[in-house]
Amino acid sequence: MSKKKLVFSGVQPTGNLHLGNYLGALKNFVSLQKNAECIYCVVDLHAITVFQDPGHLHDNVLETTASFLATGLDPDKSIIFNQSSVSGHAELAWILNCVSRVGWLNRMTQFKDKAGSDKEKASVGLYIYPNLMAADILLYKATHVPVGADQKQHLELSRDIAQKFNNDFNCKDFFPLPEPLIPKNISRIMSLRDGTKKMSKSEESDYSRINLKDTADEIIKKIKKAKSDSETIPDDAKLLKNKPEALNLLNIYSEITKNSLEKTISEMAGEDYSYLKTKLAEVLIDEITPVGKETQKLLKDKPYLKKVLKKGSEKANIIAEENLKNIREKVGLI
Ligand code: TYM
Repeated sequence: MSKKKLVFSGVQPTGNLHLGNYLGALKNFVSLQKNAECIYCVVDLHAITVFQDPGHLHDNVLETTASFLATGLDPDKSIIFNQSSVSGHAELAWILNCVSRVGWLNRMTQFKDKAGSDKEKASVGLYIYPNLMAADILLYKATHVPVGADQKQHLELSRDIAQKFNNDFNCKDFFPLPEPLIPKNISRIMSLRDGTKKMSKSEESDYSRINLKDTADEIIKKIKKAKSDSETIPDDAKLLKNKPEALNLLNIYSEITKNSLEKTISEMAGEDYSYLKTKLAEVLIDEITPVGKETQKLLKDKPYLKKVLKKGSEKANIIAEENLKNIREKVGLI
């Protein structure tokens, strides 16, 4: 097995990136690029598993690229590209469709959530989406995959697929089994309106999330309106067990100020949640609004963003083609 650390991750270009994407994934992407070879992909083929207006998709690919750069990803250090520009993703996905099992896909909770009550009407692409995700990772023989906790099950499936391929084609260690890198303290940012649901692009109310392009005023308004608790902040994290919204706000504050939850609680015990909310809005404005402003600035230069993607896809394609040559050989394709 290759000993070199190779990081791969992807983000769907389906509209506003939010605080969950930022704390669960993007911040980690940036810190990993210092010491590892990193490949970050705007996964447009994943996005079309649910219908996307073509014009919006085009704009969203560029906006996601701009947000990658605005959070600190450096195209000279990391490979940044869009998935559909490297056709190897689709080709390997087909091969892996033939390795992966229907029973494995039937267990995927995200399909159940996204398909809703009428599964018959979901696209076939949505159902086999996790196989494409495995193809993304294995195409580069990535060893580490930074993601939020919601992607853990898909990562486990990628490992199962890699292992089955290695067994079926008698090539032990051909594909490394990719390790998820999930933030320890805050792996799932929850909705500001319902602390039992993850913060997501698809939740109807914009008040449920902090978008990376929100202005200071919007952040203040959303945090003010966020659900919390009528009691004061307790002095013990255990007392927050049944108060998911309050816990979520305290967790976000701790993550941004780089403190443990315990330290935040010990500093704020006895205060009303309005106290936390004022402080939280302040630190969020400091952290998030520069990213939003930089994204807007970058979006004014679309030729530059397209150049970044083109250069990235050329580099990605070289690795992908080399690996695909070996994969085709293993499978017996001429
Ligand atoms: P996507 O586009 O939904 O989300 C991008 C990244 O953000 C993380 N994330 C969160 N983390 C914490 N709290 C939240 N509320 C939250 N919401 C989103 C996600 O875990 C993810 O890391 N299937 C993937 C994209 C993908 C991919 C891949 C990832 C395609 N191929 C290969 C890794 C490797 C997705 O839909 O992410």
